[in-house]
Amino acid sequence: MRRKEHRHCLRGRAFWGTLLVSVLMVVTGTFGLSGCSQGGASSTLQPYALPYDQKALEPFISQKTFEFHYGKHYQGYVDKTNELLRGSSLAQLPLEEIMKQTATSPDKVALFNNAAQAWNHEFFWKSLKPGGAKPGGELLKKIQASFGSLDSLKRLLLDASLAQFGSGWAWLVLEGDTLKVVKTGNADNPLLHGQVPLLTIDVWEHAYYLDYQNRRGDYVKAIIDNLLNWDFAAANLPKS
Ligand SMILES: [Fe+2]
Repeated sequence: MRRKEHRHCLRGRAFWGTLLVSVLMVVTGTFGLSGCSQGGASSTLQPYALPYDQKALEPFISQKTFEFHYGKHYQGYVDKTNELLRGSSLAQLPLEEIMKQTATSPDKVALFNNAAQAWNHEFFWKSLKPGGAKPGGELLKKIQASFGSLDSLKRLLLDASLAQFGSGWAWLVLEGDTLKVVKTGNADNPLLHGQVPLLTIDVWEHAYYLDYQNRRGDYVKAIIDNLLNWDFAAANLPKS
C-alpha cells in the first residue's frame, strides 16, 4: 500500500524558508503556525491500485460484488485506518508494522482491525488473477512435498474456508520449510503467528453474498479453480 505525502509537510530548504516566513508572520500577528501533527504524521495510506479491471473476474466474481467489496468495504478500512492514525506516532510506519504493533494493544483494537483488514484485502486483490495461473517450479515442489498434490491443497483450502465460523480468511502459508493451509477469524493474519502468507481467500460474507448468497463453498471453489494467482504465491516464497 502506497502513501500520499501531505503538501503542507515540507522538508529541507523549502521547510526552513517557509519556517522563516511563518515565524515572521506569527511575530507580526498575521497567522498561527500549522503543519505536521505530533509524531511526524505526514502521509496518508492510499488504496492498492488494481492491476485488472473490476469486471475482469466475471463470471466468478461479478463487477457489482467487486465494486462494493473494493470501493466500499476495502475503501472503508483504508479511510478508517487513516482517521485513527491522524496525529499518531504510528502514522509513518508501513502498514504491516502498524498491524504488528497494534495486534496486542487493548487500546488499539479499532486501529488493528482496520489496518489488518486493509492489509488482508490488498493481499487478497493480489491473490486473484483474471484467468488464474498454474503453480510450477519451487512452489509446485513444495506443494507436492507438503500436501502430496495440488488437488489435495485445493481440497484443504476449500475445507478451511468452509470451517471458518463467521467472518475470516483462508490462507496458504509457509511455516518453517513446510506449506500449510490455515484459517483466521475476522482481521487476524498469519504474519502475527510466525507464518509467511502466500495466498488468501476472503470468506467474509461481503465477498460473495451478492453473487452466491449463503453458498460460500461455491464461491470459494470458483476462486480456487479459476482465479488464484499462483505466480503471486511463488513470489512470496522467501528467496533462498
Ligand atoms: Fe473483504
